[in-house]
Amino acid sequence: MIIAHISDLHCGRSWMFKEDFLEKAVKLVKKLDPDLTIVTGDLTDWGLKSEFEQALHYLDMLNEPYYTVPGNHDARHEGFKVFESLWKRPSRLFVQEHENLLLAGLDSSEPDIDEGHVGRDQTEWLGKQLEDAQSDYLPIVFLHHHLVPVPNTGRERNVLVDSGEVLIKLFDYGIPLVLTGHKHTPWVWNLNGLIVSTAGTVSCERTAIPNSFNVIEIDGGEVTISKQILAEDRQEKIYSGKISRPAIQSG
Ligand SMILES: [Fe+2]
Ligand SMILES: [Fe+2]
Repeated sequence: MIIAHISDLHCGRSWMFKEDFLEKAVKLVKKLDPDLTIVTGDLTDWGLKSEFEQALHYLDMLNEPYYTVPGNHDARHEGFKVFESLWKRPSRLFVQEHENLLLAGLDSSEPDIDEGHVGRDQTEWLGKQLEDAQSDYLPIVFLHHHLVPVPNTGRERNVLVDSGEVLIKLFDYGIPLVLTGHKHTPWVWNLNGLIVSTAGTVSCERTAIPNSFNVIEIDGGEVTISKQILAEDRQEKIYSGKISRPAIQSG
């Protein structure tokens, strides 16, 4: 099972949007031909319709299926409404079965606020979805904001305001893998078996790290995460280890 994890496109007219990198990333993902692609938000810079359409233009070139959640930039100027209409979402959150995976997308964005927030409604909803799902699914949760600080990104800011509450729920639910973005810097933490993987920005100039996306390979009980560096046309392994779903401890 191969998953491409793209984040922080920041489509728009700003010079900080590197369209050639997004073009290259789309070509590389198509060549990689992953089983699915996950896009963890900040598709746009200002949440504008024209920016969403630009993002959609590129994302629709990807092989299906791909899944998106909104980021803080997408919730600006009521962009969350455009997001929901363009991606035809019945709600801000969703679960999707894909082979042996149970994919759960959460919305950590709030209109015109950069800080992330998941909230009790979403974590309780997630618990209910997992209770109803077959126990042999491997759940993967994805959201825009980082759950825990990411090193090499300067002073900490914009971590989820309820990160502690979200983390304990993810532990309780036995989630083995969480995918996030927002910090524009790839990083992986393993917190007592909960792997938290952050993708860098694929096409935004606002980063001290070369633009990249992550490639996640799950093979049996093993997971390998690599960053695909766009400027250098090479992959670099950033994590490998075991992945399994611990028993659900509470609902
Ligand atoms: Fe971003
Ligand atoms: Fe962000």
